[in-house]
Amino acid sequence: MSQSVKCIGILTSGGDAPGMNAAIRAVTRTAIYNNIEVKAIYRGFRGLVSGDIVPFQTNCVSNIIQRGGTVLKSARCDEFMNAEGRKKAADNLAKHNIDALVVIGGDGTLTGASVLASENPNLSIVGIPATIDNDLNGTDVTLGYNTALNTIVEAVDKIRDTASSHERLFFIEVMGRNCGALALNSAIAAGAEAAIIPEISIEKDQLHELISQGFRKSKNSSLVLVAESEITGGALKLAERVKKRYPEYDVRVSILGHLQRGGAPSADDRILASRMGYAAIQALLESQRNIMIGVKNEEIVYVPFSKAIKKIKPINPDLVNLLNVLST
Ligand code: F6P
Repeated sequence: MSQSVKCIGILTSGGDAPGMNAAIRAVTRTAIYNNIEVKAIYRGFRGLVSGDIVPFQTNCVSNIIQRGGTVLKSARCDEFMNAEGRKKAADNLAKHNIDALVVIGGDGTLTGASVLASENPNLSIVGIPATIDNDLNGTDVTLGYNTALNTIVEAVDKIRDTASSHERLFFIEVMGRNCGALALNSAIAAGAEAAIIPEISIEKDQLHELISQGFRKSKNSSLVLVAESEITGGALKLAERVKKRYPEYDVRVSILGHLQRGGAPSADDRILASRMGYAAIQALLESQRNIMIGVKNEEIVYVPFSKAIKKIKPINPDLVNLLNVLST
């Protein structure tokens, strides 16, 4: 095992996800354990461009494993999108003697990291997939997804109480960008009647299909989970369509929004974050570069950035079938 890495920078970027703090803790403590210096970069790539960088010690990450959000803050940064901004970022890395970066975030973060790495051949970057969307390829799961799923199910259980009392049809919109994982799996876990997800809506009009099957099936109240996306049209538009066609239905919409991103990480997310943070430093010690840490069938894997980002993550058709069968 060679040790060319002497100082790492760590940042979180894009939408925050529960478990980011647990990952920051694991990266920091594993690095220091291996005599690698750690520098915290605040506000993601924006902080890298502006030089918002401070040394981090082991006590800086005390008492954060259980906290949602990110102590390093997060931001979306337009300046980093152009070469001039990235040059400033590279200059700041050199100024702070940072020879490797651990970036924690989703598709946009890893895409930015990949571009920075290709422009700076001496810089090693390792990514930790953290997004509630679970839309990255090469890993079964991303950090924050499990917690968000539990948060959604808890909310949907509550909506069910009022839906059934008033015999209403609810469209409940959840996050996920263009990925239906949260909608589909929360529909299964909450015993909802249907999930409308982009992966299927691209081929067929799911709402039309539901209506023609007898929308409410045998029930007086129904819950439909809708993945936010231009492809699904979102819960409001779908509800409008139903109201026009079935004015007798008592339709309501609930958009869960950013509450899905908050809260203490689940035990699963804390363990995943700890494993991934540890693995990120191991990967750097093994001279790996420009890879994302993933987990496949419980095993840690290294995934080249190009395989992880900007691709549709396929939905398991068995889960779609399961929901259909169990909601009859
Ligand atoms: O990628 C995470 C995510 O929460 C998506 O599910 C959602 O579409 C987006 O971020 C919202 O971003 P913002 O917080 O910038 O509005």
